[in-house]
Amino acid sequence: MRCAARLSFARSTKQPPFDGCVGTAYGYTILGAFHGKSNGVDMDLGIRGRSAIVCASSQGLGKGCALALAEAGVALVINGRNPELLEQTAQEIRKAWSVPVTPVLADVSTAEGQAALLKACPTPDILVNNNAGPPVRNFRELDRQAILTGVTMNMVTPIELIQKVIDSMVNRGFGRIVNITSYSVKMPIVGLDLSSGARAGLTAFMAGICRTVADKNVTINNLLPGSFDTQRLRGNLSLAAKRNQVSDAEAAARSMATIPAKRFGNPAEFGQTCAFLCSVHAGFMTGQNVLLDGGAYPGAF
Ligand SMILES: NC(=O)c1ccc[n+]([C@@H]2O[C@H](COP(=O)([O-])OP(=O)(O)OC[C@H]3O[C@@H](n4cnc5c(N)ncnc54)[C@H](OP(=O)(O)O)[C@@H]3O)[C@@H](O)[C@H]2O)c1
Repeated sequence: MRCAARLSFARSTKQPPFDGCVGTAYGYTILGAFHGKSNGVDMDLGIRGRSAIVCASSQGLGKGCALALAEAGVALVINGRNPELLEQTAQEIRKAWSVPVTPVLADVSTAEGQAALLKACPTPDILVNNNAGPPVRNFRELDRQAILTGVTMNMVTPIELIQKVIDSMVNRGFGRIVNITSYSVKMPIVGLDLSSGARAGLTAFMAGICRTVADKNVTINNLLPGSFDTQRLRGNLSLAAKRNQVSDAEAAARSMATIPAKRFGNPAEFGQTCAFLCSVHAGFMTGQNVLLDGGAYPGAF
């Protein structure tokens, strides 16, 4: 797995493909050299033939995880609420990696949505928890319902899904659970306090539980994205652009300038890290918070 990136400010209207670090947005291009496909020396992740539920995976980081697991030979349940986008992603993954892909159209935050995911794959070997995050908001503007909704999306929902799959993983002696959280768990982001709080709650909740199943080869880890080039990031940058009365491209350039890597992350490289955490090689690694942020978090530890 290699990834390097450079920026070109040539105008482009193409959507970013997810089979490499090449993406376009805001009128500039993020070019990279991420090699997602085999060059003959790829690591065997040892999970070919396993099954996974990847929540909220019709685009963005969830899709990056689904693609990387498919590359490793894992049969997938993918999920989203937009039927066209979900079906398009299912077809794309099947075409790229020839693995079974079952799209489940459902809101993962609801009991019905979770039941539909579990019906499609009652005993997954791998669970990737993901969901939308709360909107950027001054915390003074959050009413009780908004707070409860945020906590439900980013803390309660992953806990409920883990409750439903963990015992069958323990019984089979293999399980990998990855929670997509955020680097805001370690470093506050203005206006995303609800997201930070709910995800920190999930992290603390799982810290004890992961130690109770580690001896059964079941691991629970958290992946903490910094700024990744997805629809969510673009939406947040557009809001920042309006607030600061600059173009979207200028808002993106300013944001990238604050990241030591001087670029946004790509969902494909996020997915490869997720697939490694789900691999046979990561069985001794549990309860960890893995930052993927291009160096944005400034601490030594
Ligand atoms: N991108 C970043 O830089 C970044 C940084 C830190 C944290 N995060 C967090 O990482 C997570 C993923 O972000 P992203 O950037 O990949 O977002 P994204 O590009 O907006 O993609 C979100 C995906 O989740 C699906 N989804 C949303 N709500 C859902 C629901 N209730 N049930 C089922 N599927 C749902 C969406 O499809 P539908 O809308 O069709 O359902 C879509 O496939 C979010 O929680 C975000 O806050 C992202």
